[in-house]
Amino acid sequence: MIMPTFKKELSLFARLWLGLGRLIGRIFLFLIVVSLIGWAVATAWFAWQHRGPVSALEQIPPGEAAMTQDVIQTAVRIVDQHRESTRYLRDAHAKAHGCVKAEVQVLPELAQSLRQGVFSEPGKTWQALIRLSNGNAYPQFDSIRDARGMAIKLLDVRGQPLLSDRQGQNEQDFVMFSHPNFFVSDVAEYRQNVAAQADGKKIMAFFPGWNPRTWEIRHLLIALATLAPPPESPTRTTYFSVSPYKFGEANAKFRVMPDPDNCPAYTLPPRNHDLPNFLRSALSQQLSTDRVPACFVLQIQRQDANKYMPIEDTSIEWREQDSAFETVARITLPPQDFDTPALNLQCDNLSFNPWFGIEAHRPIGGINRLRKAVYEAVSDYRHSQNAAQ
Ligand code: HEM
Repeated sequence: MIMPTFKKELSLFARLWLGLGRLIGRIFLFLIVVSLIGWAVATAWFAWQHRGPVSALEQIPPGEAAMTQDVIQTAVRIVDQHRESTRYLRDAHAKAHGCVKAEVQVLPELAQSLRQGVFSEPGKTWQALIRLSNGNAYPQFDSIRDARGMAIKLLDVRGQPLLSDRQGQNEQDFVMFSHPNFFVSDVAEYRQNVAAQADGKKIMAFFPGWNPRTWEIRHLLIALATLAPPPESPTRTTYFSVSPYKFGEANAKFRVMPDPDNCPAYTLPPRNHDLPNFLRSALSQQLSTDRVPACFVLQIQRQDANKYMPIEDTSIEWREQDSAFETVARITLPPQDFDTPALNLQCDNLSFNPWFGIEAHRPIGGINRLRKAVYEAVSDYRHSQNAAQ
């Protein structure tokens, strides 16, 4: 007589259990569908907002000069904050893996339309200096996620310099890091973000207020992607200009990419990533110990203003399907001994700046206009403080 009751209770329990399962399943399905629709709407909205044509000219917003002065003050504050017992360091890319000598050869068979500025003479070889760095404002272990920098200075470049006080320096700099786009769009956003960072905010720097319309989630994702794990060696990663430049009459971005096929085959012995400076040691292993050169190509991506390739928004990567990169020069780092106290001090005392160069490669866009004032101010500040010590 007990059994039927038990059976009845069991089936009630089973039905309840199955019902709950169905409900959870439906809620789950509903959430997936809503997320997919949300993702599709957001993607369509982003594509609608970010479609060509765009301007091929610079557009300077009002108030940019005043915002630039604010950024200079914050940058100097960061240099002071990070000093402690060291010399005054750069506001960004403070730690170098080394400054190396390089040869930059313009492609001998370069197409006519690519013969611009320092690339005018096919086959010409420029002597150059390259500083390889970590992006952080204070030296830290190489294993920590970070951007990696490459700054090139071509030497003996003739032509009117963009900055009148660089007369006689005869240089053309190319300043890059290892991610194709920047975590801010323009000067206004940079000013807000870097001030928040100097106040110790990290992720919250991208959420300046309670209003969700001010939240920069896409830019936060770019910042997180820029802070990448280290490459095996500074010679094994690609560096991007991020911001645009003149390229003769055209506008262009550039990048430098490893080109091992043009160098003798080389296998880097494994590095101990727990050592603080293993990127310097990788560079030294290849160039100084094993005496094997490293090769790169320098490439140009010209703006097609009919596509979404804006000049005033550095958070937008110019897509390769809209305009392909074209090789204009080959870079070789010959075997050399770069890691000596004297050469390292010389390296720290160098200044690289996208504005150190000639008209044919004039930096354009808001972030580059900002860099003009900030690099000079920070460089002058750290040099004068170091000289006074
Ligand atoms: C387009 C994106 C940018 C790239 C690719 C970039 C890259 C670099 C690199 C590679 C260096 C190290 C140069 C060297 O080896 O001496 C550097 C230094 C520096 N960067 Fe940037 N940077 C960018 C944006 C900015 C912005 C927006 C600011 C601030 C307004 C800034 C401020 C600085 C400063 C102050 C230095 C140190 C200059 C010195 O003391 O010589 N950078 N940057």
